[in-house]
Amino acid sequence: LQTPLFEMSPAERLRHALRQAFDQKQQLPVDTDTALLRDVGFPVGPRGTEDQLLKPDQVFSANWFVTKYFFLFKKNLSVTNIQFAELFALLRTHASYQGRDTHLSPHLQLLSRDDFRSLINHVLHDISLSSDIDSAIVNSAATFQDVFDRTILVAQFYGSCAVYLPPYVQLEPSLICGESGYIHSCGHLVYLRNVEKATKERFIANLEHHLDEHYTSHRRATLIPYSHEAFTDHDDHEREMLRGGLEDVKIHATKYFIGADALVDVLDDVQQRMGNRVWIPEPGPYSIEHDLATRDAEGADLARTIWIIADQEIPSAPVTVEAGRRFVIVYDQLFANKNRYHEFDENKPAWIDHTTLPHTLTGAMINITRPWDPGTTLVGDPFAGTGTSLFEAAKLPNVEAACSDNHPIAKQVVADNHAFFTQPVEWLHDYRTELTRIESDAEQFDREHNRRLRKSKLQERYEWAEDLVHRCVRPDAEPAFGADDVSALKQADLRHRLMFYLLLKAERRNARAFKSGDARWWAALRDEARGLRQRTDALLRTDEAAEVTSESIPAEGAEHLRFFQTRYSVGTTTRFVPIDRANTSGRSSGRLDQAELIREADALDFERACNVIVTDPPYGFNTEEGVIALGTLYRETLKRLLESLKPRRDGHLVVCLPEQSFIGRGTPWFTRRGAYIRLVFALAEDFGREVVRIGQVFPSRRRTAGPPYYWQSERALRRTILHFVLRPISRPQTPDSDLVATLGRAKRFSSRL
Ligand SMILES: C[S@@+](CC[C@H](N)C(=O)[O-])C[C@H]1O[C@@H](n2cnc3c(N)ncnc32)[C@H](O)[C@@H]1O
Repeated sequence: LQTPLFEMSPAERLRHALRQAFDQKQQLPVDTDTALLRDVGFPVGPRGTEDQLLKPDQVFSANWFVTKYFFLFKKNLSVTNIQFAELFALLRTHASYQGRDTHLSPHLQLLSRDDFRSLINHVLHDISLSSDIDSAIVNSAATFQDVFDRTILVAQFYGSCAVYLPPYVQLEPSLICGESGYIHSCGHLVYLRNVEKATKERFIANLEHHLDEHYTSHRRATLIPYSHEAFTDHDDHEREMLRGGLEDVKIHATKYFIGADALVDVLDDVQQRMGNRVWIPEPGPYSIEHDLATRDAEGADLARTIWIIADQEIPSAPVTVEAGRRFVIVYDQLFANKNRYHEFDENKPAWIDHTTLPHTLTGAMINITRPWDPGTTLVGDPFAGTGTSLFEAAKLPNVEAACSDNHPIAKQVVADNHAFFTQPVEWLHDYRTELTRIESDAEQFDREHNRRLRKSKLQERYEWAEDLVHRCVRPDAEPAFGADDVSALKQADLRHRLMFYLLLKAERRNARAFKSGDARWWAALRDEARGLRQRTDALLRTDEAAEVTSESIPAEGAEHLRFFQTRYSVGTTTRFVPIDRANTSGRSSGRLDQAELIREADALDFERACNVIVTDPPYGFNTEEGVIALGTLYRETLKRLLESLKPRRDGHLVVCLPEQSFIGRGTPWFTRRGAYIRLVFALAEDFGREVVRIGQVFPSRRRTAGPPYYWQSERALRRTILHFVLRPISRPQTPDSDLVATLGRAKRFSSRL
């Protein structure tokens, strides 16, 4: 009788996996595309016996890998490709070896399915050349054990990624989810298959196997197709968040097939066979059918939910040439990323300009530079704006932020955002009521062509804010803030200032449309108030849920995160320590000293010893002098930044640059990547550094694993994100010093004679 997989030592397991894969290779008629063979009528086993059609590398994977995780991204490749680099960096950061004799962080090799397939095929080919197959397998296994022990297979899809771990490697999914910018949720992978090759039998077998392994309590597993039928008509309030991400992994449950079987029939079958172990909600609006109380009453395990979704492979050719293959994916969601800033993304309440970066993106820009050396990491940003990089850096443990901006109100804006995000829920409720009132009044005034807000307190605030906006905003130019305006703003209270930012946003976002008569003031204000109210609602939902649930922390080293019950699983969010409880030495995460949140300083005066600089320089300009000044700013700040990296350490510089405007507003060439890369290479040497690419085994470039990254907003522009690793140049000893040393040795030698 054969030893079960889980009882084998990793060495035995590797030999076994190679043997199984080798046998499969021998058994397949030709070791090429079986689908192609089937197309021309070649008998490759009856359709429906999925296992017979597996390629050797798939057989190897099934026997070798132990744990499989699945990560669903908030945004897919239509928006950005940085989510993959971020995930890979977080995998390196939060993976550890179990039971293997090493204290080092695992030097993981990450391979795509294609890379992995060719690796296995090469190894199998070598084995096939031998006359003694058994010895050849033992020999290959011994040679490559160290490689396989640290190789993670990453199956990348358009908006998600599956990760296969070998025996020794353990991951901490709660940390990866909670610290990430772009991970929406993650959990165990249950089933993943090209939808045309999938079969009901395999689907059910995998599900049963998963339940045996992970659902040991008497609680039932909830199984839900992420379907248009249950969600699309009811998730309107999340439309913006879902676009370019989750929207694209939904399925039409009533029309969907798993191989030859209709999904509805498959689900009926599952329910019949495993009724006491699985709960499949009735079709219908999710907000009613999947309610937490209902799930509880049905005896479901509230900590997790098994989803059926669909994703497509990353196209290797333009879609006009070839359509990407579609995959059915079943995964058991354990954690969902409920980062409080993500609800707001580029729309934090205190706002100056359209150029705010999303929190998701900024978080990813920081994460791609990980893992870091032990000790405190200093993350710097001399163009900090509204504080996006500051808040994203401060959510991580052992990180300090060095942020500045020269805008006269940036310091206030950052302090106000900080204040907003540290308010108790009662305050948020109160503020939400104010926003609702603005929304409804603006709605009514728009209808009546009226001028004033009704409630006296609001009216006073409104008039104050309107007056200030009119003093600062200039036609066709950036707003100008005089000393008086700045001091008026500072002397007001938080509610007045929030009213000011709201009006400023409505004004600046619609300035041109007001002029051309295409927008109306009250309607614009209503929309801004509504947006902010919806975001505040979402924040309240998170905070209220996080308040009532236990403080239990699932992972060691996760004290900087909060975990709480959400509708479908455990949610992760940042642990925000309010200023008044802050430790002013600011040593640990989330503890921000208000006085020093950011400095008001010109980027040219930036001077810190940073491990990481993550920044988003200005790129707008209005005049010819503006362009010249901007050019100088780019060149001179780059020198400053190179000088501000911690001496004798690898330094990371991550910059977000404009790449292409979709609305016909050009930016000068020197703000773009071609120029910037040249400049960095040229100047680095003057500052004793060279640009290096760290030797890592990553999925091949074609699979979007490396820089440059892109991020694009639907309407306005596409941006490039560059990541430079700047290593101190270690100069060889000069001939002179060699000579002195040699002479010294000669002298000592002769004196002993
Ligand atoms: C593209 S925005 C950065 C936005 C920021 N990433 C955020 O999410 O809010 C550029 C910022 O650079 C600031 N800035 C422009 N010129 C500067 C200078 N010479 N020194 C320091 N900051 C400057 C602007 O005030 C603006 O806030």
